[in-house]
Amino acid sequence: MLYQLPHVINARQFDRNWLLGFAEEVKSMDLVLNSTTWWADRRRDELAEQFKRHSIGIAFFEKSTRTFISFETAARNLGIDVKFALPSFEAISSVVKGESFEHSIRILAGNLKPWARGALIIRHPLEGSALTAAKISPVPIINGGDGARQHPTQALLDFSYLFKLYGCIDGLKIALVGDLKHGRTIRSLAYLLAKFKDVEIFFVSPEEFSVGQDIKDYLVRHQVRYHEVRDIHEIVAKTTVIYMTRIQLERMGDQEIDLDQLKGQIQQFFSISPSVVQMLRQDHVIMHPMPIDQKTCEIPTAVDLIPQAHYFLQADYGVPVRMALLHEMFFGKIPTVPEDI
Ligand code: CP
Repeated sequence: MLYQLPHVINARQFDRNWLLGFAEEVKSMDLVLNSTTWWADRRRDELAEQFKRHSIGIAFFEKSTRTFISFETAARNLGIDVKFALPSFEAISSVVKGESFEHSIRILAGNLKPWARGALIIRHPLEGSALTAAKISPVPIINGGDGARQHPTQALLDFSYLFKLYGCIDGLKIALVGDLKHGRTIRSLAYLLAKFKDVEIFFVSPEEFSVGQDIKDYLVRHQVRYHEVRDIHEIVAKTTVIYMTRIQLERMGDQEIDLDQLKGQIQQFFSISPSVVQMLRQDHVIMHPMPIDQKTCEIPTAVDLIPQAHYFLQADYGVPVRMALLHEMFFGKIPTVPEDI
């Protein structure tokens, strides 16, 4: 069952050719959204006709602003029937009475099954939860984030945004900064970057938040040059894209954290501080999957106003990206989930 349905579980499942076609499809969806021409009107009508017997459900067991809302918006833009859109499912459902994840998935997916075509979009704090869901769901699962493991649709968004900016990923020099241990977005993005030629990655994090060995091994296998750095100032001149992430305090369990000490460390070595802003070139691009954490402040609010700040544009691109993904899921061909994830 797992490999017969077009699940989206892990960024490793996407190959280079599919990604390049996908990025073009996103550009086309972006045009449909932002154009008032006769062509865009006609395409909107065509999409509504195509999707009139399709449905999705969204159930997030973990908080979200962007992923949740952009999936719902994308589906409604396409004329898809949104059967349910449930944020904080863990708090509003029978999960509070002890219902298992597997039983919740069976019930949620069962509500979509009678329709000709349906898909279930989930987010859950447990690593591997999306794969568990895919093994038992009668409809395709889209992983909206599973713990610290994967966030494949964010990686598709990040890749598509870079493709829109540059038309090419080959040769990109990119820094991934922040909590690289718990950050699922950088894990997914690293997989996609590895599909392209001559990409150079600078991992910039405190020692205790270093990127996982599995990601480094993957990059070695795919002959991607990477470096580990402990001070953001060292990589500004060497990169064009600086991809920031927040420290994921919610994934630290019972670990005692000295927040003031951590904040000082982040602001000095791992933030877009005034000294980093002074080093930026005009062509630098600062990205962030968001949210930006106001406690540790990896990007001060003043940076929102500089031309190198791309993270709101990046987030806005989430809607056409998820429209294109739903189109691929129902009318295209999503590459299958690898056996060994
Ligand atoms: N980028 C991202 O996943 O944001 P949300 O947690 O708000 O969905």
